[in-house]
Amino acid sequence: MDEQELVRRALEARHHAYVPYSHWAVGAALLTKDGTVYEGCNIENAAYTPTNCAERTAFFKAVSEGERAFAAIAIVGAYEKEEPEQICAPCGVCRQVMMEFCDPKTFRVILGTKDGVKVSQTLEELLPYGFGPDTLNKN
Ligand code: THU
Repeated sequence: MDEQELVRRALEARHHAYVPYSHWAVGAALLTKDGTVYEGCNIENAAYTPTNCAERTAFFKAVSEGERAFAAIAIVGAYEKEEPEQICAPCGVCRQVMMEFCDPKTFRVILGTKDGVKVSQTLEELLPYGFGPDTLNKN
């Protein structure tokens, strides 16, 4: 599973986005260390705050199926009637969820468009000085 293919899976996942309020559709594809891919989309809600981002949908699907070892996530986003032409970076809450389950030095966050991979960085690059499980375990 290379990074281009993972972006292709995120583009597929984006088609399931439920976005009647923002109309901003996001897709994510989360790769486990053993090669399984969990797709996620954002799911909005009339009460707004229960909305779940695409990245967290993918993580919560995977963790609820017993997965704990993750290698990378690809993310794409754009208004629902358009194809993603610019990158869509993960929100702070989603970065924090990544921090809970991933090694910030090795987990890769891949930001794509309809044309493929545009940015590929480690979680540590996207969330420097992150607060995670290791912080608590050291004390
Ligand atoms: N959204 C995501 O799915 N992922 C992000 O990291 C950023 C924001 C969603 C939430 C909401 O449904 C829409 O994009 C507009 O904020």
